[in-house]
Amino acid sequence: MTSQLLVVETSPRGNDSVSRQLTRRFVSDWQAAHPAGEVVHRDLADTDLPHIDAAWLAAYFTPQGRQTLEMKQTLRQSDILVAELLSADHFVIGTPVYNYNVPSTLKGWIDHIVRKGQTLGFDGKGLLEGKKATVLIASGGSYGEGSPIRERDIATLYLRLVLGVIGISDVTFVAGGGAKTVDMGEVTMDAFVRTMAPAIERAARV
Ligand SMILES: Cc1cc2nc3c(=O)[nH]c(=O)nc-3n(C[C@H](O)[C@H](O)[C@H](O)COP(=O)(O)O)c2cc1C
Repeated sequence: MTSQLLVVETSPRGNDSVSRQLTRRFVSDWQAAHPAGEVVHRDLADTDLPHIDAAWLAAYFTPQGRQTLEMKQTLRQSDILVAELLSADHFVIGTPVYNYNVPSTLKGWIDHIVRKGQTLGFDGKGLLEGKKATVLIASGGSYGEGSPIRERDIATLYLRLVLGVIGISDVTFVAGGGAKTVDMGEVTMDAFVRTMAPAIERAARV
């Protein structure tokens, strides 16, 4: 069976983005380890995702058989994102930290993919068991072991929680803390990414 990797990108900074460089590295390592594998990209910087509004909720809480065509249309984008997730064996999320949490684009994606009956069972059990996730996080500050601001690492805590809710317990986090050194020109992008290459390679090899 061919394995499939779903790549979820978030940063709006294109080639200046540290998280995108980490993701690029991950994808290349994953392809080397899975030569027959298929890679699907979901770029949230280019995806115009609506906030959850009253129409979306009305559609969501109407049983499928009773949904109007308009309701089905309202849920279409969410259905597409859920389908991408369901067909992936491994998915990688590359994201910046904004204000101690994930950017609102990624939060928006999460609001669209946590779907009762599809990714979350009606009994509250996650339905994506058996899949793997890797999260590559770029942050200006460092939140690792021994950091005086460790308790502000809400992004990691939050993503671990949400992925667990939809049934994914096999999650590897690679923390690109101190990314501001790249923006400030103190460290080159290549050198920064190289320090994380072994952790990325390990995560991509599984
Ligand atoms: C709007 C904004 C908010 C940010 N908030 C934080 C923050 O709370 N903590 C932090 O460590 N870095 C913060 N940063 C720094 C980014 O996490 C850092 O620049 C990172 O490299 C961005 O990811 P990217 O390079 O993939 O775009 C913030 C940057 C921006 C633009």
